[in-house]
Amino acid sequence: MPKFYITTPLYYVNSAPHIGHSYTNIACDTLARYKRLMGYEVLFTTGTDEHGQKIKDAAELKGMEPKQFVDEIVPVFLGLWKKLKIDYTDFIRTTEPRHEKVVKEILEMLHKNGDLYEGEYSGWYCTPCESFWIESQLVEGNCPDCQRKVERIKEKNFFFRLSKYQAWLIDYINSHENFILPAMRRNEILGFLKNPLNDLCVSRPKSRLSWGIEIPFSSDHVTYVWFDALLNYISVCGYASDAEKFKKYWPADAHVIGKDILRMHAVNWPIMLHAAGLEMPQTIFAHGWWKIGGDKMSKSKGNVVNPIEMVDKYGVDAYRYFLLREVQFGADGSFSEEALVTRINSDLANDLGNLLHRALSMVEKYFSGIVPERRDLKYSDEITKALIDKAGTLSSEIKKGLDNIDFSYSLDSIWTVISVANKFIEQKAPWKLSKEKKLEELKDMMYDLCEILRMVSLALTPFMPDTSNNIAIQLGLKPVEKRDFSELKWGLLKPGIRINKLAPLFPRIEIK
Ligand code: MSP
Repeated sequence: MPKFYITTPLYYVNSAPHIGHSYTNIACDTLARYKRLMGYEVLFTTGTDEHGQKIKDAAELKGMEPKQFVDEIVPVFLGLWKKLKIDYTDFIRTTEPRHEKVVKEILEMLHKNGDLYEGEYSGWYCTPCESFWIESQLVEGNCPDCQRKVERIKEKNFFFRLSKYQAWLIDYINSHENFILPAMRRNEILGFLKNPLNDLCVSRPKSRLSWGIEIPFSSDHVTYVWFDALLNYISVCGYASDAEKFKKYWPADAHVIGKDILRMHAVNWPIMLHAAGLEMPQTIFAHGWWKIGGDKMSKSKGNVVNPIEMVDKYGVDAYRYFLLREVQFGADGSFSEEALVTRINSDLANDLGNLLHRALSMVEKYFSGIVPERRDLKYSDEITKALIDKAGTLSSEIKKGLDNIDFSYSLDSIWTVISVANKFIEQKAPWKLSKEKKLEELKDMMYDLCEILRMVSLALTPFMPDTSNNIAIQLGLKPVEKRDFSELKWGLLKPGIRINKLAPLFPRIEIK
C-alpha cells in the first residue's frame, strides 16, 4: 500500500482555537480522507505547541502552572477536532516524553557535529510571534510580522548554523519545483534568501524562561519554542522510537501551514533536517489567512470568530464546505456569516439539496420508491449523453484539484455536475413523460438521477463526510464503511433498491 503522511502545524494553546486554526485541519482532513479513498495508508497528524514565553505568560495571568494550564486547554482543541470530524491518526503535544526525547537527541547531534555553538545573543524578541529579530529588521521599532512591541535581549545562548547551509537550501528549492507551494510563496522565500541568513538562536536562559525542554548540554538553558515544535514532525512518526514506522512514513508528503509561518517551515526546518542527515518533506503548502472584512482577527479588535459557534449554528458540513469552496487554497479570504449563509442557500440548499429532494420525490411518485432498471445505454438521447459525459469527467477533475491541493477546483467540478443534473430534469420534464406514458424513458431517467446522486455522494466524501453518508442513506445504499474512489464511474448503481427519503439536506436559511 502506498503511504501518505500529512501534518498540520501544532497550535499554541495560549487561547481557544478560532476559524484560522480550524481551516488548516479541515483542509488536511479532506486530503487525508481523499488519500484513504485512493487506497493510501495515511498518517495524518496534528497537535499542540505548549512551551515558550507566550504560554507561560498566559498561565501566569490565570495564576496557574504552565503544565496545569495547557492540560486544561488541550481538551478544547480535541473537542473542536471531534466536532469538525477531523479524522487524524495521531495527536502530539510538545510536552510529551516521546517528543522531548527527540528534541534532546537532535540537539546533541547538532552540537556534536559543530552545527550548534555557544555565543552571545543581542537583539530583539517578539513574544506573540516567539521570534528573534535584529535591529535592522524592525519596522518603526516594532515586530515586522505583527507590528507589536519587541523586547531587548542580551544573553548567552546557543546558535544553529543556518548560514552554513544557505547555498544548499537555495539550490534545493530551485531544483524541487513542488517543495514550496503555491509558487508565489516559493518566490517569496527565494527572495528572502537573497540576503545572508543569520544563525538561529535556539535557546533561552532558564533565568528568564523555564518553560521549555532543557538543553542536554547546558542545564542553564531551555530550547527555543520553534526549534522544539518543528521537530514534532519527526517525533510523531517514530524518529528515535520506532525505526520501522519512521522508515515507512518519513519524509512527510505535505506540511500544510498558514502563510505567516512559512519562513520557519521553508528555511529553518529544511536546514535542521539537512544538518541532521534527514530527507526533505515533499511539499510545504502555505495557505492564506481568513480576515474579517479586511481586518486581521484579534482579541483586541473583538472580531475573533469561534468555529464551535459557527458549527452549532450552521452545521459542520456547511462550515467545511464554505471554507474549502469560498477561496482558492493559498489565497486570503474574507469570512462573514452573510457569505456563509449565501453559500448554504445557493449551493447547498438550492443546487444540491433540491436535486436530491426532487429526484427522490419522483422515484417515490412514479416508481413507489424503488430505483427502476435502466435500458441499455444506446437508448440514451443527447441530453442524457451530456449528463453521462459530464459525470465521466468527475473522477479526473476531483483528482486534479486534490492532487494540486486546490479544493475549490474539485468542488467546482462537483457543482458543475449538480447543475447539469438539475438542468437535465428541466429539459427532460419527467412530469410530461409520465403524462405521455413514456414509461421506459421515465425509468431510464430516474435511474440516471439516482446514479448521478450516488456519484456526487461518493465525490463529496472527503469534503463533507456527513452529507455524503446522508445522501447514500437516502438513496437506499448502506453507509459504506470503506468507500473507494474507483467507484466514481457511471453505471454501478444496482436497480431495485428502495430509496429512503428523509428531511431536506440543507433547509434554506432566512436572511434577516
Ligand atoms: N505554534 C506555531 C506553529 C508551530 S508548527 C511546528 C503557531 N501556532 S498558531 O496557533 O499561532 O498558528 C497556527 C496556524 O494557524 C498557523 O498556520 C497560522 O497560519 C494559522 N492561522 C492563524 N490565524 C489564521 C487566520 N486568521 N486565517 C488562517 N489561518 C490562520 O504558529
